[in-house]
Amino acid sequence: MAEKEIVETSEAEIAVHWGEEKFYHPSVKFIAQANMTDPAVYERFSLDNFPNCFKEYADLLDWYEYWDEILDTSDAPCWKWFKGGKINASYNCVDRHLAKNKNKTAIHFVSEPEDEKVEHITYQELFVRVNEFAALLQDFAGLKAGDRVTLHMPMIAELPITMLACARLGVIHSEVFGGFSGRACADRIVDSGSNVLITADAYYRAGKLLNHKQNADIAVDLAEKDGQKVDKVLVWQRYPGKVSSETPMVEGRDYFVNDVLKDYYGQRVDPVPMPAEAPLFLMYTSGTTGKPKGCQHGTGGYLAYVAGTSKYVQDIHPEDVYWCMADIGWITGHSYIVYGPLSLCASTVVFEGVPNYPDPGRPWRIAQNLDVNIFHTAPTAIRALRKIGPDEPAKYNYHFKHMTTVGEPIEPEVWKWYYEVVGKGEAAIVDTWWQTETGGFLCSTIPAITPMKPGSAGPGVPGIHAIIYDDEGNVIPSGAGKAGNICIQNPWPGGFQTIWGDRDRFVETYYARYCKDPKSKDWRDWPYMTGDAAVESEDGYYRILGRIDDVINVSGHRLGTKEIESAALVVEEVAEAAVVPVAHDIKGKEPDLYIALKPGLEASDELAQKISDTVCVEIGKIAKPRKVWIVTDMPKTRSGKIMRRVLGAISNDKDVGDVTTLANPEIVEEITKMAKK
Ligand code: WTA
Repeated sequence: MAEKEIVETSEAEIAVHWGEEKFYHPSVKFIAQANMTDPAVYERFSLDNFPNCFKEYADLLDWYEYWDEILDTSDAPCWKWFKGGKINASYNCVDRHLAKNKNKTAIHFVSEPEDEKVEHITYQELFVRVNEFAALLQDFAGLKAGDRVTLHMPMIAELPITMLACARLGVIHSEVFGGFSGRACADRIVDSGSNVLITADAYYRAGKLLNHKQNADIAVDLAEKDGQKVDKVLVWQRYPGKVSSETPMVEGRDYFVNDVLKDYYGQRVDPVPMPAEAPLFLMYTSGTTGKPKGCQHGTGGYLAYVAGTSKYVQDIHPEDVYWCMADIGWITGHSYIVYGPLSLCASTVVFEGVPNYPDPGRPWRIAQNLDVNIFHTAPTAIRALRKIGPDEPAKYNYHFKHMTTVGEPIEPEVWKWYYEVVGKGEAAIVDTWWQTETGGFLCSTIPAITPMKPGSAGPGVPGIHAIIYDDEGNVIPSGAGKAGNICIQNPWPGGFQTIWGDRDRFVETYYARYCKDPKSKDWRDWPYMTGDAAVESEDGYYRILGRIDDVINVSGHRLGTKEIESAALVVEEVAEAAVVPVAHDIKGKEPDLYIALKPGLEASDELAQKISDTVCVEIGKIAKPRKVWIVTDMPKTRSGKIMRRVLGAISNDKDVGDVTTLANPEIVEEITKMAKK
């Protein structure tokens, strides 16, 4: 018990808890057209049929050489899927669709300014642009298979083009979310060892044309200080040939892509047949320490998994217009804007702007004009649109057959608004629970088979066998009404291969806790620990409560409390920093930042502002604290640990519980008073 008390505040502890809701069923019309209507799929993907069941997903792809071993466990828990196979992701997302669908739109690019025309890029045009840029990367930037390249790009069509050009060559792309700061980009350049940075000069966000090029200069300078030299910065222009950023180009280092591309017009580059287990990309994500983890995703397994889940969970058909309103800078965008939909020859929408600009009718105008029929977004966007434009969807003539929610738990009330108002009662909804690490969905209903339950993600998707353990490693059975650590019993092809350059951290973070035998080569001994708390209801549906570790989900964006704390510690006056998640009715959570200053220093509003600004510079605006509380001391255990649990209770206006065992119980009252003001 004493040990438990010291455990830092987790989201789960302050998560919204709601009861079990009744089932909703998809319409007959939806079922009649669905890709997957056979309930036997769960049997086909049962543990008894594991791992061979995943052949079904691999067979959705075209292989240069077919694989000969479905799952190699010899280097457990670094699983190798489809061993011996040779494949290229760019070929599967582009070239193979040309014979029948070259004139079909692959990407609808929607600029934020509404007076700019939507750009409809056909598969043929995508093929041409990917080839020309691949030729440039190979020849001008000197990149080859296995090299890493960092992308710091916003939501423009050139981002998927860049990713697919890298994939064509076997170059490992590492896209950094456009809203991250130059510092955050630098850290990722250094960790991945990239000597090329691909960026954009500017992009629109909420009505402003932002200067993005300035981040590249900061990133390259800081990376060099940390020992990683960037030789070339390739800059896509928001308006080719026009200056949109006042940050000058550095001679001999920075190049406008559209200038250099002229030398590559008409060039074609054969896709490089890559081993199935060759890394396709890195995606950095937050964990329990300040240092982000580079999740390494493979080629064959990842692509098979996102193609399979896009087909059966997203119900994507080639004739669909699919819009996932996430950012490609996060895993959702990689898997379910780019690789999944394009591998299935769908039309995918890339939207530059924010959902509520210039008004909350914008998403529905886009849906109407492009005749979008599959829509995918996060609870934070749904909550915001519900709050500021509850009557907007009804004004527009669009019809969704299918909608997704992803990224955080969704409250049943919000779910019902999504269903009734956004979906007009016609769309099947899937609540998909998964992570950067997992590449694709873990739990969700299959829309035509398993009914929806508001507030519940649903059962494991086919081939995912979840299990909930308590802290001692006992299994918590379904229907027990008790929360525990949700784990996955088996590997699956979409799972990340390792943390880039840090296998020990990979094993330690995800497997050490519940591993039955660290020497074992049998996958049954290696349950994957997700880091989320969950409850399983009697019917096998999982309700995700939130993180058990030091990760906060702000507007569906994953941030580490330690990352924010180390950013605050950059300010020289700061002695100690503690971050706790605070419930917010739109964003889900926001970080509250508690600060203790070095001895002899006085708190001031200027100092609080400086600390807040520093967090934004170090990480990005998404990490901006709700409030910086400068306290005279942190509540601490006798062994000197900061009691984040107590701070979390104060910030959330909850009972702080018994604090008499603290080293300094009197401070709790002082901080509570301060926070109440
Ligand atoms: C949370 C995003 C409840 C969860 C794809 C997970 C969810 C973290 C859901 C991963 C959902 C994601 N319901 N919680 N449907 N989806 N989460 O890596 O805590 O950015 O561990 O991946 O988001 O966030 P990440």
